[in-house]
Amino acid sequence: MPVRDQGPAGFEAVGSVAVRTFAAHQSHQTTGTTLSAHQSMDGHHVNAMAGDGSGAPHNHFADYDELPEGHFYDPDAEYEPDPEYAATLAPDAARQRRERIGPTGRPLPYFPIPGPLTDHGPAKIIAMCNQKGGVGKTTSTINLGAALAEYGRRVLLVDFDPQGALSVGLGVNPMELDLTVYNLLMERGMAADEVLLKTAVPNMDLLPSNIDLSAAEVQLVSEVARESTLQRALKPLMADYDYIVIDCQPSLGLLTVNALTAAHKVIVPLECEFFALRGVALLTETIEKVQERLNPELELDGILATMYDSRTVHSREVLARVVEAFDDHVYHTVIGRTVRFPETTVAGEPITTYASNSVGAAAYRQLAREVLARCHAE
Ligand SMILES: Nc1ncnc2c1ncn2[C@@H]1O[C@H](COP(=O)(O)OP(=O)(O)OP(=O)(O)O)[C@@H](O)[C@H]1O
Ligand SMILES: [Mg+2]
Repeated sequence: MPVRDQGPAGFEAVGSVAVRTFAAHQSHQTTGTTLSAHQSMDGHHVNAMAGDGSGAPHNHFADYDELPEGHFYDPDAEYEPDPEYAATLAPDAARQRRERIGPTGRPLPYFPIPGPLTDHGPAKIIAMCNQKGGVGKTTSTINLGAALAEYGRRVLLVDFDPQGALSVGLGVNPMELDLTVYNLLMERGMAADEVLLKTAVPNMDLLPSNIDLSAAEVQLVSEVARESTLQRALKPLMADYDYIVIDCQPSLGLLTVNALTAAHKVIVPLECEFFALRGVALLTETIEKVQERLNPELELDGILATMYDSRTVHSREVLARVVEAFDDHVYHTVIGRTVRFPETTVAGEPITTYASNSVGAAAYRQLAREVLARCHAE
């Protein structure tokens, strides 16, 4: 990796973000030279790969996914900013904070920490929906749910994907389940209590699913009011929870229509990559149809940009396009790309408990506060 000799003075111009990460680079310097803002992007890879084997003291800054005490969450701080972009930041840290522009290019509002609740329910139902696969629906369901639960909200997560990824992500083996959300949907008289599972996260329960649910898609076709089956199943649970989050499967089939019919709000996760907006028109059309024909209460709460990598111009361009297309519907909170998320799936727990101080956990906590602020603004 080429290393240019340039003094730390070069960093002052790009503000606190670069300065903060610069501290980490310094501690890992073995060449005696200093990285420039531009080249230190590569420096991250060196740090990440070198790990503790480099002999350098372990520095959480260098991992760029641990938040030290007292530091606020800033997705752009995760990585060294692109120099062109860094040049647009205010020169001093204090002014940057005052005039903070979030990663979506809009001024970043402050989302207050929600106060405790004295009583619970009726639940707001949120469908996490995008027919595109692998955009972060399941990850967002688990971690938004866990963050809301941390803020004292009672949360129910509904695994509405026959693949059972949400259940797996919470440490449940779907193959071992006798009763799932399928039974709740298809068997009249089945009580939700029999299917509900407590998760390791206090205040958060799960309606698990497994491959059985794929049969429901076919069997529901001949049911009366087939689109509102989930809505009917969730009704008795609404009084017990503040938020019910439904993890949809990657399709716009009958199961997803059921989720949209049951929901008050939709969150659409979008991966920050080139084809992100493909198919979103079809999704918004489906949401509008459900709104007109089945569920007039349904609203698009927001578009959530996921797997954002502020090091790349590409990620920022995609995000700018998304904001251009959806404007205020795009959440200010943006979820960065980090290997911590795949790790949490293996661990079977949310990032808020698996890596409580990580940038990923902070991002989902901020999302929870933003979602709560949007709900309270109504
Ligand atoms: N912010 C992120 N950074 C890095 N990896 C992520 C991030 N969010 C999710 N992932 C990983 O990407 C993969 C897909 O994520 P996830 O399962 O949440 O997407 P999904 O939309 O639910 O997929 P599907 O459509 O198959 O249900 C998973 O391996 C997950 O760990
Ligand atoms: Mg999923």
